[in-house]
Amino acid sequence: MDSTARIFELRDLLNTLNHQYYVLNAPTVSDQEFDMLMKELEALEAQHPELDDPLSPTRRVGSDLTDSFEQFEHVYPMLSLANTYTIAEVDDFVSRAKSALPGDEVVIVGEMKFDGTSIALTYEHGRLVRAVTRGDGTRGDVVTENVKTIRSIPLTLPQGSGYPEVFEIRGEIVLPWKAFNRLNAEREQAGEALFANPRNAASGTLKMKDPTIVATRGLDAYFYYLLGPQLPADNHFDNMQAARRWGFKVSDAMTLLKTINEVDAYINHWDTARRELPVATDGLVFKVNSLRQQLNLGFTAKSPRWAIAYKFQAERAATPLRFVSFEVGRTGIITPVANLDPVLLSGTIVKRASLHNQDIMEQLDIRHGDTLYVEKGGEIIPKITGVDLALRPEGTTPVEFVSHCPSCGTPLVRVEGEAAWSCPNKYGCKPQICGRIEHFVGRRMMDIDGIGEEMAQALCDRGLVENVADLYTLTADQVKSLYLKGDKIAERILAGIEASKTRGYDRLLYALSIPYVGETGAKKIARASGSLRRLMQLSEAELMAIEDVGPNIARAIIEYFADPRNQAVVDRLESYGVVMETDTEANAPVSDSLTGKSIVISGTFAHHSRDEYKAMIEQHGGKNVSSISKKTDMVLAGENMGPAKLEKATNLGIPIIDEDTFLSMLNPGQ
Ligand code: IVH
Repeated sequence: MDSTARIFELRDLLNTLNHQYYVLNAPTVSDQEFDMLMKELEALEAQHPELDDPLSPTRRVGSDLTDSFEQFEHVYPMLSLANTYTIAEVDDFVSRAKSALPGDEVVIVGEMKFDGTSIALTYEHGRLVRAVTRGDGTRGDVVTENVKTIRSIPLTLPQGSGYPEVFEIRGEIVLPWKAFNRLNAEREQAGEALFANPRNAASGTLKMKDPTIVATRGLDAYFYYLLGPQLPADNHFDNMQAARRWGFKVSDAMTLLKTINEVDAYINHWDTARRELPVATDGLVFKVNSLRQQLNLGFTAKSPRWAIAYKFQAERAATPLRFVSFEVGRTGIITPVANLDPVLLSGTIVKRASLHNQDIMEQLDIRHGDTLYVEKGGEIIPKITGVDLALRPEGTTPVEFVSHCPSCGTPLVRVEGEAAWSCPNKYGCKPQICGRIEHFVGRRMMDIDGIGEEMAQALCDRGLVENVADLYTLTADQVKSLYLKGDKIAERILAGIEASKTRGYDRLLYALSIPYVGETGAKKIARASGSLRRLMQLSEAELMAIEDVGPNIARAIIEYFADPRNQAVVDRLESYGVVMETDTEANAPVSDSLTGKSIVISGTFAHHSRDEYKAMIEQHGGKNVSSISKKTDMVLAGENMGPAKLEKATNLGIPIIDEDTFLSMLNPGQ
């Protein structure tokens, strides 16, 4: 078979395998086989750029950065649904629909109300052409590049599966619980603000400017509405079954309901059964099945008359507050935590709930002796939503936020413009010291096999490890002295420590617990700086030229490396052979064609991402800077260069070059 035919064959095969894995949850090949096929396709596509297809399965990893999203006017406005909260109201809706359609049999479709962010996809000739968010209902943001990274969304539809030439399909983009929990755990480790629920996480992720990050988040999508001039069936249910055959994920919970009794039973069932679903739902939706009947019922200005949402009750309990504890994290931030009389909520016993920070604590006006409301709505993390004032005893006093560190007694400081108080005694405050060691050994950081949370804590408590460099001088005897560990275990731990030396610069950077430097940030900073030594020399302005590095991160990095204790840790880590630079080959200067040149990048590009251009500038000896000044040598401009930048560059007489010119400067003579 020639390579052209093989490319088409592999694309079809990989589309099918993707569908089996992400939509049907029934993979038929191992991950390894899948990866091999993908690699084969990538290699063939690289040899045949003329067969390029932006919807190839190889293109799901995300490419170009978006500066801002283009807007698109919806062909069919995206309306919302009327809400109800009781079975009686849903029954009323069904009765009203029946009486508005005298003589008709009215069949209702019951389905889940997915708690994510809505999306409208347009397909033409079986190919995804556009993905638009709800926006204000009339116009939304075009987020096609981000949506393409969602593996369960078909980019091309199987030939002969009967899809119409042009159609729109609407659904909900969700972040499944598992992915949501993983994301929040990472953010917690990084000292970043947590997402309150999967809905916020999904909509935040969908609006990210870098599709490569979106690709790592684990978004999924369920579809519930088909629109277009030629639909396969005259009813909603059959249309959705057809969409399922074209490869879309349609919930198995979608059911035809013929009587009010069946509607009620559906509600009673899912009121509890929804807790077992892999994704967040905030209710059920009931729709009149027949499209002819839908047309007769019509719309109000805001919502269809042929559909209604039934919202699940957030589960709430009232329980007495025992006391508020103040806990010190590894970056020194103090979190107030309500310690409660244990109470059963959505199947788990809740004893503690974060009060987040002083502002939130004061807004809730929590007093000693209060009884608090705890809720678990769309959130898995229990939330304190208020105080039962009827149960408040007389003469209560407010719970005060602490002024000193509960662990080391140091007066707390508050970062300007932030709600959090923190303990500045970074190197003398035990929970901070131990927290950093615990973080360093963690799976997503240096991943030291054999040292878990407890072991890290024990090493720190016993004073065997006072900073992360001490890990690398641990002896077998020291390890064995902990809970009398045996030879085998000690060996494994020492081997784990040795193996951690080659985790790489980006993971080391994240592992160091520099305030504000999270996992994603560390990757970008590592890519831009190339080595830890180089990073230590960058100025605040140079740091801020790195993608997504703002003043807080830049200052935190400078402050961190200005401290002689941290410099000593870096020196020691280096002397033990811990890898502190990105792959040298990839970073070695390629040429000196841009030596000494300060270059500003602006706009969006067709051939490479901004990050790639940044890397190219550096590899050819130039410097990427963020703002235009007299010292700037040139501006590499893509589409939609900012007007302010354009004006400034023109006024200062700085050459503006496009990407083709730029690329030819790097490879003169080609
Ligand atoms: S139908 C014209 N079905 O809920 C009716 N919406 O409050 C279009 N949603 O914007 C919506 N699950 O984002 C429909 N099974 C479902 C749904 C659903 C979640 C969301 C959707 C919509 C919002 C309306």
